[in-house]
Amino acid sequence: MLSLAILSLIGPLAVSGAYTPQGRSTGLSSRDGQTCTIQSSGSNSTDDSPAFRDAAKQCANGGTLLFQEGVDYYFNTPVNATLNNVDIQFKGNIHLPQNVTYVQGIVNGSTGGNVWWINLTGDNLNFTGTNNLSTGWVYGYGQQWWDANPKNGSGIASRPHLWRFNVTNSHIKNIKIRKPIAWVTTLNGRNIDVDNVFVDAATTPGGGFPFNTDGFDVAAKNVRINDFTIFNGDDAVTINNGGENVTVTNGFIGGPGCHGTSIGSLGQAQGVYNTVKNIWFENIKVHGCVYGSRIKTYLGGQGIVQNVTFANYDVSNTTFPIYLTQNYFNQGSSQTQNGAGVQEGGNFGGRVDNSSVIIEGVTYKNWRGDINTYQPGDGSCVTDPCWYDVPGSDGTQAIVIGCSNSTACSNFEFQNIQVIPQSYAETKINCTNLDQASNPNLGIVCTNGTLVST
Ligand SMILES: *[C@@H]1O[C@H](CO)[C@@H](O)[C@H](O)[C@H]1NC(C)=O
Ligand SMILES: *[C@@H]1O[C@H](CO)[C@@H](O)[C@H](O)[C@H]1NC(C)=O
Ligand SMILES: *[C@@H]1O[C@H](CO)[C@@H](O)[C@H](O)[C@H]1NC(C)=O
Ligand SMILES: *[C@@H]1O[C@H](CO)[C@@H](O)[C@H](O)[C@H]1NC(C)=O
Ligand SMILES: *[C@@H]1O[C@H](CO)[C@@H](O)[C@H](O)[C@H]1NC(C)=O
Ligand SMILES: *[C@@H]1O[C@H](CO)[C@@H](O)[C@H](O)[C@H]1NC(C)=O
Ligand SMILES: *[C@@H]1O[C@H](CO)[C@@H](O)[C@H](O)[C@H]1NC(C)=O
Ligand SMILES: *[C@@H]1O[C@H](CO)[C@@H](O)[C@H](O)[C@H]1NC(C)=O
Ligand SMILES: *[C@@H]1O[C@H](CO)[C@@H](O)[C@H](O)[C@H]1NC(C)=O
Ligand SMILES: *[C@@H]1O[C@H](CO)[C@@H](O)[C@H](O)[C@H]1NC(C)=O
Ligand SMILES: *[C@@H]1O[C@H](CO)[C@@H](O)[C@H](O)[C@H]1NC(C)=O
Ligand SMILES: *[C@@H]1O[C@H](CO)[C@@H](O)[C@H](O)[C@H]1NC(C)=O
Repeated sequence: MLSLAILSLIGPLAVSGAYTPQGRSTGLSSRDGQTCTIQSSGSNSTDDSPAFRDAAKQCANGGTLLFQEGVDYYFNTPVNATLNNVDIQFKGNIHLPQNVTYVQGIVNGSTGGNVWWINLTGDNLNFTGTNNLSTGWVYGYGQQWWDANPKNGSGIASRPHLWRFNVTNSHIKNIKIRKPIAWVTTLNGRNIDVDNVFVDAATTPGGGFPFNTDGFDVAAKNVRINDFTIFNGDDAVTINNGGENVTVTNGFIGGPGCHGTSIGSLGQAQGVYNTVKNIWFENIKVHGCVYGSRIKTYLGGQGIVQNVTFANYDVSNTTFPIYLTQNYFNQGSSQTQNGAGVQEGGNFGGRVDNSSVIIEGVTYKNWRGDINTYQPGDGSCVTDPCWYDVPGSDGTQAIVIGCSNSTACSNFEFQNIQVIPQSYAETKINCTNLDQASNPNLGIVCTNGTLVST
């Protein structure tokens, strides 16, 4: 094995390929390597992505990649980088291009039509932003994308994701994103610590709806996301297939348009078995969102959701604080749906209704706050009935649970749910198939009516 002294003596080019840490953390820190300062051209008419790629190649193993304090970097093209034992010191700003058709062209030209503008892979890869509010931002210029969305559209075509961290043993800290185009952070890999996040995907008053501006899409294992503020138009944090041992704590989620903390959607591809387990949400404030917590699985999907806790939620002006559906569909899309916006009524649009994702061991505890009674929902409806319509709901339902049969949902527990309608009417519940036999410690009565604790 190379000693650290030799590593820093021989140049980065010689090192590349000669030293490739495998799997486990090596204990190397970026301080052991050189610092590569990313150069900026200073104008958006020049693409700074090549400068990033060069620096990332130079410092790919054991180096520090420096975005200089207060400097603007124009990433006119997407970047990929594989970085091991590297600290990205993010003290400048990244700007995505402001030309919508140009970005769409890049997305259309990509294989599969899915682009992550910044795609980072590696082991022991840290991304360290700054607490200085005047710099360290990623600017997506999403507003014009939201405004360009036509009436009854659910987001224009060919939108890129902002970034993916497919990493192991890594720390992401102090990140700030303003007006992302759509999906913000995708996490893959394992052993990832995320701390101090600000996502501002709130539309300007009267502006278009910020469709699909998910804060975090997590398909990683052993993840901690702590201390975040997210204003957006979709899930703030959602755990997707493959998510395991994920702890999400101390968050503020605001709207209007936000969809809270979620599991799924799962089971959309009917042949693919999905797994999500050991998920813990705690100390979450939800303000003006459609949902506080949501579990969403498709009819006819397969898989298992196991051991999920939603604890200490403070909700205000939230339409459906606690929500679960095993009959999920994606509005405005005709593929793999249950029918053209028909949530109930037997139109399954070609999906075979022969299975569901099993959900077991879900605990909701210590919830307080109020339900949005007077102006429920958000501006994201493009179908009639609306995709989030719950037949019979009247702004007094703290809990809406729709399980597909008497065994599909088991070992659910509700403890100390003190969520009331803004009208001070009785708190209601809409509940389907949370059977007593499958849920011996349910803590409430599964009924369509007044919420009663047991
Ligand atoms: C990443 O951060 C962790 C925690 O602060 C630290 O232990 C590790 O050495 C850092 N790695 C690099 C490459 O800087
Ligand atoms: C990123 O890597 C993938 C896979 O190697 C490749 O298809 C894609 O073109 C790369 N993108 C960029 C911007 O280099
Ligand atoms: C460059 O910046 C100017 C001023 O902010 C903006 O009008 C223009 O659209 C930008 N061009 C691109 C390609 O982002
Ligand atoms: C935006 O990009 C498109 C496609 O690349 C190009 O044709 C057009 O001239 C650009 N618009 C501006 C204002 O630069
Ligand atoms: C991201 O980068 C990795 C490593 O360079 C590559 O294998 C992967 O295909 C890239 N993904 C995308 C979506 O570009
Ligand atoms: C993440 O990286 C691992 C190892 O490099 C690779 O096997 C996997 O396909 C990547 N996942 C995604 C979603 O890119
Ligand atoms: C998740 O945590 C459990 C319990 O601590 C542990 O047994 C399991 O190995 C962890 N999963 C992964 C993928 O590390
Ligand atoms: C359930 O998940 C929690 C939080 O992730 C974890 O601490 C606990 O060990 C898990 N329980 C089991 C039985 O795996
Ligand atoms: C609740 O949210 C709705 C938008 O969903 C908004 O119109 C209304 O003013 C809010 N009410 C309160 C009391 O904040
Ligand atoms: C309920 O649905 C699950 C998952 O599709 C299935 O395995 C189970 O047999 C069903 N149970 C009943 C009682 O229909
Ligand atoms: C909700 O409960 C009401 C009665 O309180 C009922 O009319 C309605 O059908 C129920 N909706 C669902 C989805 O259970
Ligand atoms: C609530 O209403 C729905 C139909 O809207 C029904 O399927 C379900 O069984 C009802 N729940 C109870 C506990 O009766």
